[in-house]
This record gives sequence, structure tokens and C-alpha cells, in this order.
Amino acid sequence: MHKIDVILGLQWGDEGKGKIVDYLANGYDIVARFQGGPNAGHTLKFGGNKYVLHTVPSGIFRENLINLIGNGVVLDPVVFQRELRSLEQSDVQFHSRLLISRKAHLILPTHRWLDAASEAHKGKLKIGSTLKGIGPTYMDKTGRNGLRVGDVELSVFREQYESLKTKHMELLKIYPAVPFDLQAEEKAWFESLDTLRSLPFVDGEYYINDALAAGKKILAEGAQGSMLDIDFGTYPFVTSSNTVTAGVCTGLGIAPQRVGRVIGITKAYCTRVGGGPFPTEQDNETGDQLRREGQEFGSTTGRPRRCGWIDLPQLRYTIMLNGVTDICMTKIDVLNFFTEIKAATHYRFGGREHLNLPFDLCHVDIEPVFKSYRGWNASLDSATTFESLPDETRTYLHDLEKYLGVPVKMISTGPEREKLIVC
Ligand code: GDP
Ligand code: IMO
Ligand code: MG
Repeated sequence: MHKIDVILGLQWGDEGKGKIVDYLANGYDIVARFQGGPNAGHTLKFGGNKYVLHTVPSGIFRENLINLIGNGVVLDPVVFQRELRSLEQSDVQFHSRLLISRKAHLILPTHRWLDAASEAHKGKLKIGSTLKGIGPTYMDKTGRNGLRVGDVELSVFREQYESLKTKHMELLKIYPAVPFDLQAEEKAWFESLDTLRSLPFVDGEYYINDALAAGKKILAEGAQGSMLDIDFGTYPFVTSSNTVTAGVCTGLGIAPQRVGRVIGITKAYCTRVGGGPFPTEQDNETGDQLRREGQEFGSTTGRPRRCGWIDLPQLRYTIMLNGVTDICMTKIDVLNFFTEIKAATHYRFGGREHLNLPFDLCHVDIEPVFKSYRGWNASLDSATTFESLPDETRTYLHDLEKYLGVPVKMISTGPEREKLIVC
């Protein structure tokens, strides 16, 4: 039976999914995004250029490869149009090979307005949302009010739009007023629908299952990370979709037994952007150094990312949730000149040590128990195989593998496409 391989983030997002999907895409016929929306920012670097994708799957730069935006994605046609324009400027031919599932939900201008108003209402307890309208759009999806990509082909589309907008205007009354130029935003939104309509819409679930039956090789690309999953993340400081492997089934329309390799990506340390618990955070000089060396600023919002050490209880948890078969470790080069590197092996709370995460990380005072490793104090630029890595790097990786119980199969040593060691 043909299966779909999966790439997803094991932490709080920004693990380097875009780079790895782009690298591996050459071995596949189709790359399919299964959840999230323009809250994602996936960075690719090659040929001296840098590209950031938000809605478009990271296989788009590989010639002839089909890229599918699955039904689990929420799509803002304005952001999407902007992305397509920049692809055109880079001479990327995408018209016949960028497909959109009719069942993907649309982000309306008023969803973004609601997002901003809801965050303003939360004040100090705000999620730190990217304000792309993600939460309100998924709320309308599960609340059975949403508009879908396929609806733009219907004659009643405008009516549906007006009806949903009216609901949103009512809802906005419960929130503090936040500035929003609805007229201008609506104009841009309706104009951008022409670009959306110029691409092929598909019944994604049939498309993907037919492709599997025809022996096509498919890679599913996740957005965000497992700790931002709506069910299993650090709720309520999460996004609004299932970012774990299970989301591939509902976000593309495939059966669980169709899932093949699950490649879980983790940085060699840890970051988070926005609010919420982060047990291994280093709000100190170490964190500043990680941010500096790793250039840890958001790809979508430009916000500085919070930085800390790698968290093994957290990774064991997300490896379990996702059924990870292979680990890909990115940004190991960021640690090149640290004299001491740390990894949290346990949590201490309630007077005991724990391997498992507590029910709610927000209300437990967690003290991570760290293990120390000697740094390698060398550039990894010339390392092309696992064996050519410095002894200290190999010790660090082997030890993490032991704690995690899954092999590290890829090691990324720089942002560029070719900076990858495949073990
Ligand atoms: P994504 O959301 O998971 O695709 O990750 P982002 O693109 O938001 O953030 C990852 C950042 O790290 C980007 O700026 C990448 O160019 C960069 N990056 C990816 N892999 C590596 C690596 O191995 N080393 C370094 N130094 N940077 C990397
Ligand atoms: P990629 O795919 C990192 C975070 C936001 C916020 C929370 C909710 O690039 O890894 P939302 O906009 O979904 O309402 O925000 O989730 N967040 C991300 N953090 N990487 C992302 O995507 C993220 N997408 C959302 O910062 O804390
Ligand atoms: Mg990102």
C-alpha cells in the first residue's frame, strides 16, 4: 500500500520545516499542506536567495512537483495573492501545479478584525496571535458558519459572505474597539478572489487518494508545531488546528493506515514566539546569545522569539503523539560557539521529578532538570557526514537519541538548502 510521509514540527513552531520540505521535495511527486494558514512562515534559502512561504507548500520551487493546499488549511486570498505575485517575480511557474482543495476554509477580513479585537480584550493574557484571523476562522469552521474555497464558485457566494459578515459585526460589539478599515480590506479581499479563481480547485480527498492509488509519492507538510496543537499543546496558548500527525488524516482526507514515515523536526535548542509557558526558556544572556546566533525573529511577524534549551520531556511527549519515525535536528550550527550546552532531561514539580508533562503547564511551577554537555567550539561548515562531526557534537546527538528513543536521521547545519547531513 502506498503511504504518505509527514514532516512536522515537534516544538512551538519555526523548527525549519520549510527548509527540510524543500530539500526532500525532490524525492516526491506531491507536497500537501494539511493545516494552519498564513500564521505560518516557512523560510527557504537557495541560490543566494531567501523565500518565505505562508500558504503555499514548500515544494513549489521544485520543477514539475504538484503542491496541494489541503482542506485542513485556512486561506486568506489577500495573503495568498501576495505570495503568488512574489513567486511570479522569481519566475516560478506554478499555475498548473498549485492546487487548492475546495473544502479549505476562507479567512474573511472580519476574521482578522475579530482576531485583533479578541486579543485586545484578553489584555495581558493575550495569546500573542499572529493576528491573521486563524482562531476566528477555525471557530466558524467548527461552529458550522464558515465559507470555503469551493463556495466562491457558487452564485450565492456574495449572500453567504454578507450573512457571515453581519454575524461578525454583531460579535465585534462585545469586544473593545480596534481600528480596522473594513471598506479597504473588503475591496482588496474581493479583488484577490480573481487570483484564487485562476488556480485549479480540486476535491482534495479524491485527488490525494487517486494519486496514492496511482503510486505517486506524497509528502505532507505541517505548519506550527505540536506544542501549539489545539488539543495537546500548551492550551490556551496554542493555535486552532491539529498540528500533530492525526491532522494529516483530517486535513487531507486520508485513512490512518496511509501514514508512512513521520519526520519530526526539532531545533538543537528551543524557541517560542507569543505568550504561554516555556519551561526551558532562558530569559537571560544565554537566551540572548541563542537569539543572536540563530537570528530568532519571526518569519511572519518579525517578533523576537523567546529562546531556551532543548526540552527532552517535551520532545518525548510530541514524539509519542506523532508516532515519529525519524528525527531531523536543525540549527545545530547555532550552538557552535557555546562552551556549555544544556538539555532538560526531567521536570521537577510538586516536590518530585517527572518525565511526563503535567495537565496544564500554565499553572504548575516547573523547574527543568538540566544535563550539561561540552560545546565543540568549531564551525560545522565542512561536515558532510555524521562521522565528520566533532566528537562533542556526536556525543550530544547520541545522548539525545538515547533519551528520545528515535534515531536522528538528518542534521541541518545552516539555513541553505545544501547544508544538511543525511545519516
Ligand atoms: P519553519 O516555520 O519551521 O519553516 O521555520 P522558519 O522558517 O520560521 O524558521 C527557521 C529559520 O531558521 C529560518 O530563518 C531558516 O532559514 C533558518 N534555518 C533553518 N535551518 C537552519 C539551520 O540548520 N541552521 C541555521 N543557522 N538556520 C536554519
Ligand atoms: P510556523 O508554521 C511559530 C503562534 C503564535 C501564537 C499562537 C497562536 O512558521 O512554524 P495564531 O496566529 O495561530 O492565532 O497564533 O501560535 N504561532 C506560531 N509560532 N511558528 C508558527 O508557524 C506559528 N503559527 C502560530 O505566535 O503564540
Ligand atoms: Mg515559521
